Amino acid sequence: MRRRDVRILDDAEALTRAAAEEFGRRVRERVEQAGFVTVALSGGSTPRGLYALLAEPREPAASLPWERIHLFWGDERDVPPDDPLSNFRMVRETLLSKVQVPADHVHRIRAEVGDAARAAWEYEQELRRFFGVAPGQVPPFDLVLLGMGADGHTASLFPGSDALRERERLVVAPWIEKLQARRITLTPPVLNGAACVLFLVHGADKAEALRAVLEGETFSGDDALPARSVRPAHGELIWLVDRAAARFLAA
Ligand code: 6PG
Repeated sequence: MRRRDVRILDDAEALTRAAAEEFGRRVRERVEQAGFVTVALSGGSTPRGLYALLAEPREPAASLPWERIHLFWGDERDVPPDDPLSNFRMVRETLLSKVQVPADHVHRIRAEVGDAARAAWEYEQELRRFFGVAPGQVPPFDLVLLGMGADGHTASLFPGSDALRERERLVVAPWIEKLQARRITLTPPVLNGAACVLFLVHGADKAEALRAVLEGETFSGDDALPARSVRPAHGELIWLVDRAAARFLAA
């Protein structure tokens, strides 16, 4: 893994602006190189501001080549796409309803099948088909956006989950005890196969987990702190955090 890059921003708004700049730079670079770019989006509340800003940039020149972007999801709740809990619905409301992404470039996790394991299997087939990856290979996402919970979870990789030890599958559907629900999530090998992983973490409630992930002792392993299992093999790992979340980090 290349050097880890931790950037501390004043507040959530500054973090959102920094994330939009980083997102835009990488998207433009990759579209310039390859003609298209693949991005796995994060769910939760933190990225809402980013998606809204990307949809309505301050100046037209900052708008992105949406027709060249393929959007995927890092995880999804086990609910239909119009459910308030759906990560797809959140992205549709904040971004897809405002920019022109071709319908066949929106690769959502089809959780409405009512069987999370089947939804995970189907998504894995879509990833293998789109990226042309055979068993044993992982899709090379250009950019993966991630958040982190106060318990150190990321995507839907929660502490103690068997999904943390998955090395073959690309997508799994673990039961999350604390949520009493299943989730559908990309697995660590997929996250670690990305060219760039961009964590967005803000808020005082994340401060202890962030310290433990970035500076904590390693003996507890990744099971206790799933976000620590994200160490891209060849890609970049960038943490955009605000002061509140960074308050326990060594100066
Ligand atoms: C989800 C996300 C999840 C999220 C963290 C942080 O589906 O909710 O994948 O991993 O990034 O829970 O959530 P907040 O951004 O809401 O704090």
